[in-house]
Amino acid sequence: MARVDLQNITKSFGAFKAIHGATATFEEGSFTTLLGPSGCGKTTLLRMISGLETPTSGDINIAGRRINDVPIHKRNLGLVFQNYALFPHRNIAENIAFGLKYRDVPKSDIPAKVKNALDIVRLPGVEERYPSQLSGGQQQRIAMARAIVIEPDVLLLDEPLSALDANLRDEMRVELKAIQDRIGVTSIFVTHDQSEALAMSDKIIVMSSGHIEQIGSPEEVYNHPASEFVAGFLGTSNILDVAVIERNNDSVTLDIPNFGKAQIPLAQASGLGDASKGRIVMRAEKLQLTDSAAPEGAPSAKARVEAVDYQGQLARYFVRIGELQLQVINMIEGRPFSQGAEVTVTLSPDDCTVLAA
Ligand SMILES: Nc1ncnc2c1ncn2[C@@H]1O[C@H](COP(=O)(O)OP(=O)(O)O)[C@@H](O)[C@H]1O
Ligand SMILES: [Mg+2]
Repeated sequence: MARVDLQNITKSFGAFKAIHGATATFEEGSFTTLLGPSGCGKTTLLRMISGLETPTSGDINIAGRRINDVPIHKRNLGLVFQNYALFPHRNIAENIAFGLKYRDVPKSDIPAKVKNALDIVRLPGVEERYPSQLSGGQQQRIAMARAIVIEPDVLLLDEPLSALDANLRDEMRVELKAIQDRIGVTSIFVTHDQSEALAMSDKIIVMSSGHIEQIGSPEEVYNHPASEFVAGFLGTSNILDVAVIERNNDSVTLDIPNFGKAQIPLAQASGLGDASKGRIVMRAEKLQLTDSAAPEGAPSAKARVEAVDYQGQLARYFVRIGELQLQVINMIEGRPFSQGAEVTVTLSPDDCTVLAA
């Protein structure tokens, strides 16, 4: 395993700039996810690390060595893609051993290596079968086995689960993470699925339009989004204009439309700088709906439930406060509020993030 460093990588396709200066470190043995909407440049970045694409500028280092000009087959990387493309007319052993063909592995060592890879992906004994005799999830595990059989320094995974149906995808993400834990290989995983990223990653790199928006642990990017883009992409956020009324050493006091004054811990408002206006991010699940008044001193507003999206344990409410519509996700205790209900929305200042306007 090895550490990967990207230094100010750019990539242009003709006049189109797909990556605008990406700098990031992928620690040895860590699982890092490139997360962002379709077209933001995740695959392009991964392809540059793999050697399938050349950066327009910037450096890629693996284990401290600049590899920009090292050809793909000399980078010792394991690759897993969405269409895992097993060879249909070769058996599983041959499919897995394919990765070893162009390496100096003595022929007599191959069966043991294949067996070991199959053990790691928890599919022992399927050497003689053909891909069509395995389920989609099993085929995906074979694709993993093929990638890890070469004992790669880095494993690159481009939306490897997106071809699977929802249930299998959830199962496979646990399995895939377990495989990575077992071999401890530095892994770079691409997805547009925030829940996959939150569940699997040591670190998430959030991307938008060829830019890195934020790098942090799942908890950091979720609870301390650095930009409105990140706040909007991960989870459900309500984002409002606010005015700064007062500042002191450990908090800022804001005037939040409809909610009135709220004192926000400074740690939650580091993005505000010394601006007099800002934007407050209120997570849908951090707002609380009640049919009684808010606790004394808590910032709250009277609202009306406009729509209810029942989700079993949870309900997603669309509530209106005058001109303002907010989304609130709450656990259902007893019965959910019904459409038309008059409620109080209370916000928790400790759970809000304030950004520059
Ligand atoms: N070979 C290429 N030629 C021209 N444009 C490309 C090429 N590859 C990718 N792009 C463009 O670069 C942008 C990023 O693409 P990609 O990295 O595939 O995004 P993602 O994987 O995040 O969906 C897109 O606008 C895409 O159309
Ligand atoms: Mg892609």
